[in-house]
Amino acid sequence: MADRRIVAMPGDGIGRIVLPEAIRVLAATGFEADYVHGDIGWELWCNEGNPLPQSTIDLLAEHKVGLFGAITSKPKDEAAAELSPELQGQGHIYYSPIVGLRQLFDLDISIRPCRSFPGNPLNFVRKGAGGQIEEPMVNVAVFRQNTEGLYVGVEWTDPPEEVRRAFEMHPKFAPFKDVPGPDLALSTRIFTRPACRRIVEEAFAYARRHGYRSVTVCEKPNVIRETSGMLEQEARAAAEKYPDIERWSTNIDAQTMWLTKNPEDYGVILSGNMFGDIISDAFAGLVGGLGFAASSNVGREVAIFEPTHGSAPKYAGLEPSIVNPIAMILASAMMLDHLGEEERAASIRGAVGKVVAEERVRTYDLLKIPGGASVIEKGAATTQQMTDAIIESLATAG
Ligand code: NAI
Ligand code: MG
Repeated sequence: MADRRIVAMPGDGIGRIVLPEAIRVLAATGFEADYVHGDIGWELWCNEGNPLPQSTIDLLAEHKVGLFGAITSKPKDEAAAELSPELQGQGHIYYSPIVGLRQLFDLDISIRPCRSFPGNPLNFVRKGAGGQIEEPMVNVAVFRQNTEGLYVGVEWTDPPEEVRRAFEMHPKFAPFKDVPGPDLALSTRIFTRPACRRIVEEAFAYARRHGYRSVTVCEKPNVIRETSGMLEQEARAAAEKYPDIERWSTNIDAQTMWLTKNPEDYGVILSGNMFGDIISDAFAGLVGGLGFAASSNVGREVAIFEPTHGSAPKYAGLEPSIVNPIAMILASAMMLDHLGEEERAASIRGAVGKVVAEERVRTYDLLKIPGGASVIEKGAATTQQMTDAIIESLATAG
């Protein structure tokens, strides 16, 4: 038995397809671990009224590191309608189990590396001044605050009287004071100093460790002064300890406008929850999209690594499977980094890079054709063939 235990949570749909592929790659690097299965997702919701069982929470509390595939999530009412008949009408309320895990274990930092692999046909290209084609090599790591901000869920339509009174204390609420309750919706944006401090310190430390020359705070402090302002203040303070790393600031709107103009100029990008969600998807789109986007959810104790994509139900039942396993495989490389196995992590990224550059084995997304069973006869690789190629490339790299 290996010393290390990893909680493997395949979840639903293609999560169940890509997670075993990542485990095959991890094993091929010589990384030794036992994978203990953690139940999570839609089937559990339908059959037991709870998509995140206590047994999975206990496993994560014990082993600290999880690999997560993807889950199917549906709006509250649709979710309630799909509960098995004997569970209907008992007050079960659906909530997303991955959001639940982030809150429960205070997985407050999400890191999303967005790195171009040379030769990836999905890389963003632009025209230079002389009409020449430029393919900027993007190497950005987005640090997104994962537990606060607008996504906390402290919000109301028709807010209670006490809340209204509290808001009325603010002079800028004056124009809204006579809006009838049912016509008034409030969502609050909560930042705390300890969380801001922790993410900026982690971001600067990461920049130094991974050779990035800048940390860019991407917020909107000129308008959202208190919350964006707090993150900005903490970044200034942290930057003093990192004279070797430049501290830049951009506004989220301008950053998205410049997204394609000079994405190669950025290193670590640091944002609150919502802007981090937006800017990480934006950068991921430049480097291959969902088949390549991996992310981590890192708390002080527990960390969970996942592809950004969801359960892609329309491809879940295809035999052979056609989805790209690279996002999940890159998530497992992030896990290795987290465990101090940087060499093995780098070897996985190197092997992925080689397979992408060789152009020999390509899943349908890399061929830029619509998904479906027929992609195989059109020359697309299966999920397993892509993994095999990566494993082969690991072996030849020695
Ligand atoms: P999705 O990410 O599952 O799929 C969107 C489309 O992206 C797919 O139809 C496919 O064309 C492409 N795609 C996704 N992963 C791919 C891969 N590995 N290789 C090649 N192509 C890939 O998002 P969608 O369809 O919006 O949601 C499906 C379900 O997943 C929903 O129930 C949603 O709530 C859930 N979801 C779960 C997430 C998670 O578990 N973290 C994240 C996003 C969505
Ligand atoms: Mg997102």
